[in-house]
Parts: sequence; structure tokens; C-alpha cells
Amino acid sequence: MSHYHIKSEKQYQEAYLESVKNPEEFWAQIAENFQWTKKWDTVLNFDFSKPEINWFQGAKLNITENCIDRHLFERANKTALLFEPNDPSEEAAHITYQQLHDRVCQLANVLKDKGIKKGDRVCLYLPMVPELAISVLACARIGAIHTVVFAGFSASALAARILDCDCKLVVTSDGAFRGSKTIDLKSIVDNALKNCPNVKTVLVVKRVHSEISLTENRDLWLQPLLDKAEKTCTPEVMDAEDPLFILYTSGSTGKPKGMVHTTAGYMVYSAFTFKNVFQYEEEDVYWCTADIGWITGHSYIVYGPLANGATSVMFEGVPSYPDYGRFWDIVQKHKVNQFYTAPTAIRALAKEGATWPSTYDLSSLKVLGTVGEPINDEAWHWYDEHIGKGTCPIVDTWWQTENGGILITSLPGITKQIPTFATLPMPGIQPCLMDENGEEINTTEASGGLCIKFPWPSIARTIWGNHDRYRDTYFSAYKNKYFTGDGALRNAEGLYRITGRVDDVIIVSGHNLGTAPIEDAIDEHLKVSESAIVGFPHDIKGNALYGYVTLVNSLSTSSETETNQLKKEINDLISAKIGPIAKLDKIQFTEGLPKTRSGKIMRRILRKIASNETNNLGDISTLLNPEVVEKIIEERL
Ligand code: PRX
Repeated sequence: MSHYHIKSEKQYQEAYLESVKNPEEFWAQIAENFQWTKKWDTVLNFDFSKPEINWFQGAKLNITENCIDRHLFERANKTALLFEPNDPSEEAAHITYQQLHDRVCQLANVLKDKGIKKGDRVCLYLPMVPELAISVLACARIGAIHTVVFAGFSASALAARILDCDCKLVVTSDGAFRGSKTIDLKSIVDNALKNCPNVKTVLVVKRVHSEISLTENRDLWLQPLLDKAEKTCTPEVMDAEDPLFILYTSGSTGKPKGMVHTTAGYMVYSAFTFKNVFQYEEEDVYWCTADIGWITGHSYIVYGPLANGATSVMFEGVPSYPDYGRFWDIVQKHKVNQFYTAPTAIRALAKEGATWPSTYDLSSLKVLGTVGEPINDEAWHWYDEHIGKGTCPIVDTWWQTENGGILITSLPGITKQIPTFATLPMPGIQPCLMDENGEEINTTEASGGLCIKFPWPSIARTIWGNHDRYRDTYFSAYKNKYFTGDGALRNAEGLYRITGRVDDVIIVSGHNLGTAPIEDAIDEHLKVSESAIVGFPHDIKGNALYGYVTLVNSLSTSSETETNQLKKEINDLISAKIGPIAKLDKIQFTEGLPKTRSGKIMRRILRKIASNETNNLGDISTLLNPEVVEKIIEERL
């Protein structure tokens, strides 16, 4: 029996059991649902100590044949991508599978013409327009490795990513519409490329029709090239383990990590989870509100839905434009059946009141999903009551950029849901909880560090150019286990609830932000001696950033104007180095930071002060400088 589509709790249990008892047989029968140029010789080889992980070795395929070509027999005229523009008065675009095929092939031919070959890296820095999904697929068509950089990142963050994986070509646009704003993406690219001599070509999508400058011999408008290109392009035959894409994610220390995802395993797992987590049926319209710049967009706007022949909505705009009814207007207009968003968006919309959703017809909705951070009880109930009208199951999907696909979630209408619990592992996922001594906890009811004991097909294979960092970050905390960096608890029924990061990554509005790169940016200010960033609870963002900053030579800010100016300069620096998403909500200037005797900043204390939990600081007498703590508490913002 095929486990590809799980329709009942019994089938889930059977599939799960099979996936643990006979993982290779389980994944081989799931993989039978795809189109292979050549099937695999072995399903799985792995060694977590190296770590080395190979799925479907010996197989040959092209993921775009699975996402596009094989649907042309039955679904040529079905909408593949449904593009909803930022401005609601601009018409939505229905791009059929046939049109998607033609446009992907044309762009693939343009890339080839510009010298891009299998294995070359191509950077995509684009707004949420169809060309972004098309560029992703065009790279995959010819075996180029795409690295999508979220178009909210600054020029220096973009340059760092382009340099890290040595991209040869960038696809961007003349600008981006975001609500009432127009963002000049092209000049961000121009600034970034001042330091990236290996980028020989920039292809520019015309979207906002603003005046921009094109650098001679490097920048070209894309459309005229597409118009001349052939609508067919033979797919490059890829090995199962050839890299498909690199996607950068923040770490708690150092520069961003370029997570490398490979072809076959990623395809199989993203498609399998899409089908089951959203229970997608042939006529459904599915909408994930993420940006393709994040892993959620890769797996659950592009690859997972298209591999299942789905209709996937791509929204260019923001939930507040032209008003707070926009999401619900789109659901009504396109009769969306599955809706997948982030807790931060739910909280922002809940704050505006239930009148907004109540004025739209949301009766098409069958499944609601959330992703990116723990969802709080209040937001969960608002989502359930006002969007799902108490009749739509909610899947709280836990996973990470490194994972490629959803690992822990309920299946809608199939397995149990409990607010704020991600609940159960997907078939093939073997989670476990670790205690403080590094031992696996064997009692059902427990809490600890969340690890995964066995590989699944879409686990990232390495960090681009730094395999040691990959091993150290994910496979060294606990022997032979993948460590997620998250804490979790498991209830008496064995259901998981994710409690949050246990390292120095802070999730702000669903975006992972490492503290170290932000501190590095602040420390570049000439007046700053040292800084420490912590998270504190925020109604909408989940967490916001609180910065403690000490100035050089005990400089102090003498007036309010001076203080505000310095705060602005610090946030401008962060915006320029990382992007506006990493700006601090609060900045407190302090004379010193609490440190251990070995000189390590005690973030635990700073975190408690920022969260106003000052009566519970624990023993501070062993600090090098306990006196600064009182002062910091006194001057807390
Ligand atoms: O802490 C977890 C949190 O987001 C982290 C992964 O972030 P990123 O790589 O950006 O991927 C986000 C989208 C897949 C995790 O380590 N996280 C993600 N989903 C959930 C979550 N925390 C609780 N519940 C979730 N559903």
C-alpha cells in the first residue's frame, strides 16, 4: 500500500511505524510517486559523526520535470501560480502549468546564454513577483544552484551572501511594491556589487517602471531577452545529491550559514509533507503567505505545491495594504482552501479586530496553518474562531531552514490538535528530548533539548564552504543526533510543544536573528565599546530586541537629543549591515555589562531584566561586576 497520501489516523500510525521500522522501504515507496530519469541504487547511506547523508544515491532526475513537465498531460491549463499583486486593482495573473513551463524554459535559456552552467551559483534578489518563482525553477532546470536573498536584506547582507557562495549572476528588479511604498531594489544591488567582482551579469525585471541606471556590460533588462528565447529547454540530468539551492540562515555566532539542500531528497520530502499536512486535493487553491526568500516559500510556495500539481497563490503585498482586510479579501476572491501564515501576522491582524475578517466570505477555507515561531494561546484561538470559524483544523508546523520540510505537526482532521502544540512527528521523523547531562530522556512526559535521531530525506547536507561548522553546529552537542537548537516538552500522550530557542538566536516576527551579527554591527559605531542583545516578549512580533550598549571611555550621552541621535545611528547601522528587520526596539546605555569571572556576558540576567523579571535573577554574587546589575535595573526602559 502506498503511504503517499495519509487520510486517517490509522494510516498515519501505520505509516509512522513503517517509516521507523523500515525507513528505506518506506521512503522508496514514497519516491515511487515521482518521475526519475534513473532510479536509485541505494535509498540511504549516512554517518552522523562525519556527518554524511546520502538519499537515493545513483538516482537521476530533474526537479522541474516533476514540478512542471509531468503535469502537462493532465493539467496543462490548470493554474500553477496565482499571482495576486500588491495593488488590489491590478488584475491577478493565473499562470497555467503550460505557461509556467514556457516561461521557465525561456528564462533557463537566457541563463544558459549568459554562460550559466550546472553547479554555478545564481543569486535571486526579487520581490514576490512571478519571475521569482520562475527564476528558481529556471536555475533548477539547468542545474544552477539558486540562492534567494530576501529582498528586505541590506546591500552589505546581500554582498556577504553573494561572496560567500561566489555567485556569477544576479536576477533582480527595478524595484518592489510593498504596500504604499516603492523600494528601490536595483540600487541596493548596485551597492552590493561594488564588492562582488565575480558577478558578471545582472538581469533586471521591470516591475515598478522607475528610472534606474543600468551598468554597461553587466545589467540587462530581462524581458527583451525572454522574448527572443525558445520555449523549450532540455532539463539538465541531475544526480540525487547534486545541490539544488543554498539558503542562508542566521546562526547564534558568526556569519550567516549557507544551508545546502540537494535535489532528490528535498523534492520527495517537501512534496510528501505538502500533500499530507495541507491535505491538498486536485481542485484546491492553496495559499502560503511567506516570502520565497525564506525556506517556507521555497518548500511550500514553489517546490512542494508544484510537485503535487497544485495551484499555489503568490502574494506580492502586505497584510495591511490597502487595509487590514487584505488577506481575507484574497481568500474570498480566490476561494482559498488552505491558508498558511505566521503567528506574527495573526497577532498583527487580531489587534485590528474581528470586524475585518467578518466582512469577507471565508467559507472556502478548509485548513489553516502556522509556522515560524511558537503560537501563543490567544493568537491560536483568534485564528480558530475568526478565520476558521471553529471548523478548520489548524496545523502548527514546526521545522527549520536546515530541515527542508515540516517535521512536527498535526495532520488536519486526522490527528489530534491542541493549541500551542505542534504535536506529532511526520513519518520518518524520530524526535527525542535530551537532558542536561546529554542523555536521552526516556519518560514520555518530559522537557529538554530537541534532537532528531535519524535522517530524513530533506535534511540540509552541509553549510556551503564550511562542513566543519555544519558538524559543530548540529551534530556535536549530542553524539549521533541532529540538534535543533530548540527546547521542547512532551506531554503524557507523547505530543510535542516547542518552547523556543535554547541558543542566542532570537525569533522576531518569525525571522531568525542571531545576536552576534547584530552586536558586531553596533560595535562598529565609533562611540560604542560593547553591546549585548537579548529578546523580550512583544505583543505582535513575539519577541523584540533589547540592546544594552556601553560607550567607549565611559562616554555618556548628556542630553536627550544626543541620546536619541545615538540610538538612531545605531539602528541605522544595523539596517545597513543586516536590514531593517534586525533593528532594536529598545536601546539602553549602560556603564557596564554583567560578566562572569571569565569575562562572558551574562545574557540570562540581561534577558530577565529586559522582560521585567527582576525579582528572579538568581545568584549574581559570583559575577565579576555585580554592581552594574542594580544600575541596569534602575535605568531599565
Ligand atoms: O525555533 C523554531 C522556530 O523557528 C526556528 C526555525 O526558523 P527558520 O529556520 O527561519 O525556519 C522557519 C520556518 C520553517 C525553529 O528552530 N519555529 C518554526 N516553526 C515553529 C517554531 N517554533 C515553534 N512552533 C513552530 N511551529
